[in-house]
Amino acid sequence: MPETPISVVILAAGLGTRMRSRLAKVLHCAGGACLLDHVIEAAKGIATPDRIVAVIGHQADRVRAEVAHHGIQFELQTEQKGTGHALGVCAAIPAVASGRVVVVCGDSPLLRAETLRNLVRLHEESGCAATLLTTFLDDPYGYGRIIRDEAGHVSAIVEEKAASEDQKKIREINSGMYCFEASLLWNHLATLTPNPASGEIYLTDIVESLRAVGQATAACVVDEPGEVLGINTRVDLAAVDAIFRRRKARELMLSGVTIEQPETVAIDQQAAIGQDTIIGPFTRILGRTRIGSDCHIGAGSILENATLGDRVEVLPYTLIEDSKLEAGAHAGPFARLRMNSTVEEEAHAGNFVELKNTSLGAGSKAMHLAYLGDAAIGKRTNIGAGAITCNYDGVKKHRTDIGDGSFIGSNSTLVAPLEVGRGAYVGAGSVITEAVPEDALALGRARQVLKEGWAKKRREKSGK
Ligand code: UD1
Ligand code: CA
Repeated sequence: MPETPISVVILAAGLGTRMRSRLAKVLHCAGGACLLDHVIEAAKGIATPDRIVAVIGHQADRVRAEVAHHGIQFELQTEQKGTGHALGVCAAIPAVASGRVVVVCGDSPLLRAETLRNLVRLHEESGCAATLLTTFLDDPYGYGRIIRDEAGHVSAIVEEKAASEDQKKIREINSGMYCFEASLLWNHLATLTPNPASGEIYLTDIVESLRAVGQATAACVVDEPGEVLGINTRVDLAAVDAIFRRRKARELMLSGVTIEQPETVAIDQQAAIGQDTIIGPFTRILGRTRIGSDCHIGAGSILENATLGDRVEVLPYTLIEDSKLEAGAHAGPFARLRMNSTVEEEAHAGNFVELKNTSLGAGSKAMHLAYLGDAAIGKRTNIGAGAITCNYDGVKKHRTDIGDGSFIGSNSTLVAPLEVGRGAYVGAGSVITEAVPEDALALGRARQVLKEGWAKKRREKSGK
């Protein structure tokens, strides 16, 4: 028998008033990804992207652009008329017309695929028309409460505002996540009427609608309430972010990465770090950063979409964005690598060195205070302290090419476009505007003037 297809609808059209933000709630970030991203990842654990539909409304274009790469479908809810209405806008989508439909909220980023699998499994076993994901809270205020009948089935969900004093004492709450039989869902959803008090169509009313025709609703209880709770405020957002950070750090430590003072470190979900690498305190390892084995990332360094080979040494307070350090390379302290820069094998980009769209060849060294932009620097070169490429003429950017084994003296000013041949020398303090051929010495500075005895005479004259 072919398996019953599963589709997922993510309700994400609301603004999230309590965030007090101009940004739609699901676009806020925790653990290095927007809330909706996390929920989509969980959904992908039970359904293929073409069977995942996000209902969007507030800032629909931005939300769509942010998560389009997942390959999911979108449906627009132009007016936010309640959770039942939001699900209803998907009724005509072929992907959700049959099989089982899992409904989740876009603002519950801690949700795991495993929990959704449990929900679907329990739903299948129970044979019910619907199954709710519920949990028990010490303080259930604000949530829909679960009313159960003698058989243990859910007979109704009562929202806070409509709950009696006795019902308010019920600690079992509706997480806002469900699994439905599609055939029954769409028929019953179409019959729900707006809540008289709020004018919204409540998805939760479907429980009673199903029950009226003898269809039962089961409950799947989640032991860890944190996982299904939605984010409402920025306080919740920070708490969830901290949970993501702890999870990731723990996972990495258990896989063989040393993290010093892990409570001070932020590592994004997608980052990968090899064995026996040491991550110093107050570091941030962001985006799709890849770090090899036996590396050391010094305190306070920030790596974003960086790629590091094995045995790379990043000294404290170094910033690496969209750039690469090959095996055995060194950077920092206080270095900045950005826009596709590469420090090749065993090369050094030392203190206060900035590389922009530049490759520093294998074994080359720029140890102190250099700016190297739009440059290709060969192997085993030495870039002196204070050397800079003048890559920008006020209108355009120009390239600098420096050959293998060359030596760029301290405080050189290399005016691009410029080529320095292999094995060439540039004298300290030179302003170089013309190509330097292979093995040549280029000097571009005023000659030194020496006046013997000048200082002594001056002192005698002034009597000091
Ligand atoms: C809902 C449930 C409540 C449950 C709680 C769990 C209803 C009536 N109540 O209440 O039982 O305990 O979730 O968090 O469903 N959304 C739309 N379009 C809309 C309205 C909402 O897309 O028109 C989306 C929101 O963006 C959000 C989700 O649906 O992601 C839940 O909506 P929200 O307004 O937060 O529902 P609650 O009042 O929290
Ligand atoms: Ca909510």
